[in-house]
Amino acid sequence: MKKINIAIDGPSAAGKSTISKKLANELNYIHLDTGAMYRCAAFKAIKNNIALDDEEALCEMLDETNIRLTVDGLVYLDDEDVSLLIREDEISKAASDVSKINGVRTKLVSLQQDMAKDKGIIMDGRDIGTVVLKDAELKIYLTASCEARALRRYNQNKENGILSNDYETILQDIKDRDYQDMHREHSPLRKADDAIEIDSSDLSIEEVVQKALELVKPLVEE
Ligand code: DC
Repeated sequence: MKKINIAIDGPSAAGKSTISKKLANELNYIHLDTGAMYRCAAFKAIKNNIALDDEEALCEMLDETNIRLTVDGLVYLDDEDVSLLIREDEISKAASDVSKINGVRTKLVSLQQDMAKDKGIIMDGRDIGTVVLKDAELKIYLTASCEARALRRYNQNKENGILSNDYETILQDIKDRDYQDMHREHSPLRKADDAIEIDSSDLSIEEVVQKALELVKPLVEE
């Protein structure tokens, strides 16, 4: 079977990571959650008292930073397991803030493109189909209503033992973050012209995975 690259973009909490992970398992591909990289940048900046809009300091910090994503979904920042810490609501907001900075994007995008050289990668984020992997063989734009996404994030937080915010606050955060991610100057979130949109509001995870697999099938057959 031919190996391809798959780009999955969409707003926060649309299920990109969950779907990408399952697809990667089915296809024996590598999954790269690029949002985790922006979250690591935000987490380390906060820890080091670096302002989230200080481009020079953020870039210097990233030059001295090692981010490692394991195949089983763990995230290591300079060898510390931060998998759960970076999922806090405060970090979600901060990640959106640092992702506006062009220098930060340039550094992370270059790392991401490097990892996709050998094909067989599923990358999820906001700019994968439009910037990082413009030539990906399959581009999916995964979306869902704000309410469905807020409910998922609320339940996910509960499962992870993160009980910081109620549903209404999460819903407002999601709306604010959508606005910020879609209206920033550099690489705003948008559907690539050649991406296929899947609305997951009323679909189960399995249904979305099946839809995606149907799109993959003709592309990998030799
Ligand atoms: O997917 P996520 O919620 O973990 O992403 C966190 C933030 O990082 C999100 O608000 C936007 C930003 N991001 C980005 O700008 N580009 C990407 N490829 C991935 C995430």
